[in-house]
Amino acid sequence: MAEAKTLGALLSWAQDRLKQAGIAEGALDARLLVEHVTQTTRLDAMSRPERPVSDTERMAVEEAVTQRIAGRPVHRIIGHREFYGLDLRLSPETLEPRPDTETLVDMVVAEARRLGGEDRPWRIIDLGTGTGAIALALLSVLPAAHAVGVDISADALATARINADMNGYGGRFETCQSDWFEKIDGRFDFIVSNPPYIREEIWRALAVEVRDHDPRRALVAGDDGLDAYRLLAAQSGAHLATGGMVAVEIGYDQKESVTGLFVDQGFRLHKAGRDLAGHDRVLVFVAETAREQT
Ligand SMILES: C[S@@+](CC[C@H](N)C(=O)[O-])C[C@H]1O[C@@H](n2cnc3c(N)ncnc32)[C@H](O)[C@@H]1O
Repeated sequence: MAEAKTLGALLSWAQDRLKQAGIAEGALDARLLVEHVTQTTRLDAMSRPERPVSDTERMAVEEAVTQRIAGRPVHRIIGHREFYGLDLRLSPETLEPRPDTETLVDMVVAEARRLGGEDRPWRIIDLGTGTGAIALALLSVLPAAHAVGVDISADALATARINADMNGYGGRFETCQSDWFEKIDGRFDFIVSNPPYIREEIWRALAVEVRDHDPRRALVAGDDGLDAYRLLAAQSGAHLATGGMVAVEIGYDQKESVTGLFVDQGFRLHKAGRDLAGHDRVLVFVAETAREQT
């Protein structure tokens, strides 16, 4: 039981507990948990470590530390996570957005700049939007763009809607519950997606923090991990505006197989991007013979 009576003491207590439990990044996690519970900032901990903490705050930090030691990811406990400078709420059926996915956002923004500038009214569709991470990050940089966030999960779409409103992009973001393109009409300048791409057998071997806390439907895509790409490759041409692009996140070893699927459907690989660890992570395709005329 934490005896801490001040913010500084509570933070030290949480850090010690997580360190003793062998939690990697324990110091950072302790800070995030304490800040979340006490609604304080890093600056508060440094400038006002003597700030008193209430019994309720102390008990809530204890509960959060217990959950963290039990393996629950820190952002799941807090219920939100930062992505591309946006604060995004999480819910049971949303994936925690990963920093690697920012590579996809950067690449699409670069293409938008190259093709005509940030200020164009770009039409974007984000398939498998989850928290809305990719779509909302793009809207944050492209001020006249409009995005449709598609997901099969109603829970994810409700969360994406809250995130859009909370971050000030609600007026340019709409949601659609659909099995990929099934309920989608119209054409888009950018079709973007971070679909599920993990093979069934890999899923079983994943770290418990991913397997037990990220929704399976957000991650697993059949025996070879390519089910979603097959569908996106086959159907994107019918939804792409002239000169448009398809940008997908991939698993580190999927560049060749995913490129093959898109090439077979009349696309050409325009660019490939690597993540922070240097793995192939994003592929951008343009239509060559894929049906792209309106
Ligand atoms: C890897 S997560 C990506 C979430 C978010 N875009 C991100 O990058 O953090 C994949 C998303 O695809 C959604 N999804 C899975 N199957 C789907 C389907 N058949 N149709 C539409 N979305 C689907 C999941 O619910 C999940 O939100």
